Amino acid sequence: MKTEILPAEDPSTLRRAATALREGEPVALPTETVYGLAANALDARACARIFEAKERPLSDPLIVHLPGLEWLERVAVANATAIRLAGIFWPGPLTLVLPRQPIIPDIVTAGQETVAVRLSAHPVFRQIALNTGTPLAAPSANRFGRISPTTAEHVRAELDGRIGLIVDGGPCAHGIESTIVLVADDGLRILRPGPISAEDLAAVAPLHGAEAADDVVVPGSLKSHYAPRTPLDIESEPAPHPKDGLLAWSPVALAGFGAVEVLSATGDPREVAANLYAAMRRLDAAGLRRIVALPGPETGLGAAIMERLRKAAARG
Ligand code: TXA
Ligand code: MG
Repeated sequence: MKTEILPAEDPSTLRRAATALREGEPVALPTETVYGLAANALDARACARIFEAKERPLSDPLIVHLPGLEWLERVAVANATAIRLAGIFWPGPLTLVLPRQPIIPDIVTAGQETVAVRLSAHPVFRQIALNTGTPLAAPSANRFGRISPTTAEHVRAELDGRIGLIVDGGPCAHGIESTIVLVADDGLRILRPGPISAEDLAAVAPLHGAEAADDVVVPGSLKSHYAPRTPLDIESEPAPHPKDGLLAWSPVALAGFGAVEVLSATGDPREVAANLYAAMRRLDAAGLRRIVALPGPETGLGAAIMERLRKAAARG
């Protein structure tokens, strides 16, 4: 299959994407977090093609992206807390795990009684979802276990020949995946840290410890995830080596590495997150022995970035 990248600025691209989605084909789309591989969430066969293209195990459920808020209660059972969170953080990088409605096929939830839902803030994604007229199931548009794509070219590097269409909406603003939160009657549990921080959520509802309930599949629960092929270590005082690449949050005076990626001139975590996956991909392509990442602060968005680095560093 030939994989085309078409510009989002061209109105015919949006029409083609919606038509392909309605016909049951998966299409890669930009979101404000990372690129997603979307399919009609109400069509089990279309969703099966996502798993096939990504080589994703069927045990790993998909996030359902709503065309508008009015879809929330058609796909999920939303309590008062869920409706409050949606009112505050949607459209945006927050995914809510809620009891499912029967309209959602089993393949999307991996047979679980919950469904993960979000409303993307990306204007291209929103327009295509509206034109398609159905919720869109969309995992990150990478092969399973690999680094999430933050540009159309990254998607091509992951899925070339496996999907027909990539809609190019430029680089993603946040650069890391949405925060996933389990909404229970007695409060919230963060299942995956992300752009909406624990501090943001705790201001809205009681936040329980990070340990997940027994009956919930924890996102990215495999220890290794978001992983480059080159081994990655987190070290605060690495010894320079010409075969090692350095991944730094802010400018550092460290000579002797084979390659250096500075993620932000000022160490701004938002900029670090936005540049993280592209920098990891460049270092991964540089033929290095290993990548050494310097650690950063563990608060706010920093916590989500550190979680991604730890997953990238985990072997096996
Ligand atoms: O920012 C994002 O969330 C991106 C964009 C494309 O929206 N999507 C994304 O999807 O990161 P994915 O599939 O790469 O990661 C979603 C995670 C998976 O680890 C999955 O296990 C988890 O969400 N998940 C999905 N449904 C769930 C559910 N019902 N309960 C618990 N975890 C769930
Ligand atoms: Mg993913």
